[in-house]
Amino acid sequence: MKLQNPNGDLTVTSNFTKARQALHTSTPGNIFCRDKELDIIETFLQNHIDNGTSGSMYISGRPGTGKTACVTHILANRTFSGKFKSILINCMLLHTPTSVFQQVAQQLDPKWNTTAKEALSYLEDRLTESGPMIVLVLDEIDQMSTRDQSVLYALFELPALTNSRLILIGLANALDLTDRSLIRLQSRVHFKPVLLNFSPYSKQEIATIVSQRIQEAVGEDVGNVIAPSALQYLGGKISSTSGDLRKAIDICRRAVELAETGAKKQSVLASSNSELQTSESVQTNKCVSIPILCKMMASVESNAFSVGNSDDVDDTPLQQKLIIVTLLVLVKFGKSKQVTLGKLHQSYSKVCSKYGMTTIDFDEFSHTCSLVESRGIVILKRKSNPRLAPICLRLDEREVESTLKDKTLLSSILAQGSLFV
Ligand SMILES: Nc1ncnc2c1ncn2[C@@H]1O[C@H](COP(=O)(O)OP(=O)(O)O)[C@@H](O)[C@H]1O
Ligand SMILES: [Mg+2]
Repeated sequence: MKLQNPNGDLTVTSNFTKARQALHTSTPGNIFCRDKELDIIETFLQNHIDNGTSGSMYISGRPGTGKTACVTHILANRTFSGKFKSILINCMLLHTPTSVFQQVAQQLDPKWNTTAKEALSYLEDRLTESGPMIVLVLDEIDQMSTRDQSVLYALFELPALTNSRLILIGLANALDLTDRSLIRLQSRVHFKPVLLNFSPYSKQEIATIVSQRIQEAVGEDVGNVIAPSALQYLGGKISSTSGDLRKAIDICRRAVELAETGAKKQSVLASSNSELQTSESVQTNKCVSIPILCKMMASVESNAFSVGNSDDVDDTPLQQKLIIVTLLVLVKFGKSKQVTLGKLHQSYSKVCSKYGMTTIDFDEFSHTCSLVESRGIVILKRKSNPRLAPICLRLDEREVESTLKDKTLLSSILAQGSLFV
């Protein structure tokens, strides 16, 4: 039995280390529990690449449901018989929605360097010339949502051009093609995009995926890294709140890290004091349990767990609401439409203290602002000093009101607006 092995503590420590490294949130080596979705995307690509026909697909689903992971996995690991070039653009990194045309043009021809205005017609020409198929993946396409959706319409019309060689895949977190404004897209463009929705992972799926990810690193030792009950608990907690697998992986990684630190201390103690090196001391190396997870959640928690998300209608986490309302206050009562993230954090802290709510620190705040951004509510420009990054609202007061649903909080903060500027 491993624990009675004199090196047992080392085995435990290295299992923790391996598991921690495996619990990253970049592209994973293997995808679990998404066989149906992988199959649909692969078949779509295969049909279009191998037959040389253009087409488009629109994938929607909440953050952390594996959209990016599935698409990048297929492009990296599957082979297709037709020739193609793939371009992946994360629209979160674009300065304005229209700059997507320039970005694509530059990826098609690195020497291309003209104005954004000319980019669309350049693309129309290039994409209808003969050549290999172009698979264009636009991730976080929510960022291209504009009032009239003109950028999205223009993009999704590109595959419909005669002789087009564009295969477009758009990935959206919040924008759903069944949204009123986007329904037009389906009726307008010649080629209707194939729609694919990634439903949130269930409790069991979250537990399975996290367990499989650990298993890839430590084999059958998963149970020594995390208790099955803790996996179930984690799955339940995440699926009943944001459903974001990224959060489940983050929390689990931090919990494993804690267990790893504990195990290392234990093994130093044991080797420095041989009297302590009894099987009893080795057995105190604890795998991740429900209490460790709870501790991690409490420290990670800022928004997703604090608000009972049982009400489907109002799914904006409290911290995000506070950020949006504070920004609205600054725009209404301040001088400019745009403020820096540092200033927003300052005012947001005033709002929190006024309402007796926990303030999140700047780093967490800045991360939460990017979540608000991914929902298309604000525009956030990146700067090397994040406190100087400009942020502005993409919605007007009425639209904010209808997005937030929580009229009481909103009107109360707005009524005292000048206090927080
Ligand atoms: N089915 C899965 N199997 C393994 N890991 C996954 C799976 N789905 C998501 N992940 C992990 O979670 C992270 C977040 O998923 P991601 O694809 O970025 O979500 P989305 O694009 O929907 O926001 C991924 O980088 C990956 O590490
Ligand atoms: Mg993604």
